[in-house]
Amino acid sequence: MTLPEDNLPRHIAVIMDGNGRWAKKRGLPRIAGHRSGLKALRKLVEHAVSINLQAMTVFAFSRENWQRPDYEVRLLMELFMSSLQSEVSDLHKHNIRLRFVGQLDAFNQKLLDLIEESESLTAENTGLILNVAINYSGRWDIVQACQQLFDEQGEHAEITEVALSARMSLSDIDEPDLFIRTGGEQRISNYLLWQLAYTELFFSDVLWPDYTAKHFNEALQWFANRERRFGKISEQIKQTNVS
Ligand code: IPE
Ligand code: IPE
Ligand code: MG
Repeated sequence: MTLPEDNLPRHIAVIMDGNGRWAKKRGLPRIAGHRSGLKALRKLVEHAVSINLQAMTVFAFSRENWQRPDYEVRLLMELFMSSLQSEVSDLHKHNIRLRFVGQLDAFNQKLLDLIEESESLTAENTGLILNVAINYSGRWDIVQACQQLFDEQGEHAEITEVALSARMSLSDIDEPDLFIRTGGEQRISNYLLWQLAYTELFFSDVLWPDYTAKHFNEALQWFANRERRFGKISEQIKQTNVS
């Protein structure tokens, strides 16, 4: 599948789902699925760089994922640490700006230090912005934005969409144009609730470790054929495109 020539999304949000089922199908422990999922992510990041995507935001660990068995959570944390240590210099070489979103204070100091180091190392890079959502929850994001506004302005805070948007995670980049969820489930699972208000939603049955650039291009092709009306009617959109 070739890439569409125009109408490419600038920012893609991804729920990388299906690692556990991928491993189970092969009689492997779930963590093997997460390791393979990381390899799939590495390849897709390369692809995202090659097509000059502005930003990609991937869901790596939700606030609800703490409820998984302790050993899976522990192994996932180890995988975050080891992959941060091994991948960051390569991401930096590719001019990628790495950032983390979510309630980060839940993590141990060692992981926080690695996050801080990798963010500051890549802060000046001008290529792909890769946002990794960890201990993220869309509802948490909305609440923390309200809390920030309240802390800044007190009980007379002026609560507007503009004021809240400015305090939400990822407020400095365009909202996602395209959302991709792999693994067959058709739900948002408390991901970027505010930011996805007008995002095109694409669901794939492919399990994340099997997800390749070819599948990604299929989603881009699908996106290129969407008409984003933002509440208007088709004729108005066509007129704007012509003028
Ligand atoms: C997504 O894959 C990765 C994380 C949530 C960390 P899952 O682990 O949810 O895989 P399935 O849905 O059980 O197959
Ligand atoms: C969403 O996947 C979170 C991540 C991919 C990190 P889950 O597998 O946790 O979602 P649910 O629980 O099936 O909705
Ligand atoms: Mg899942």
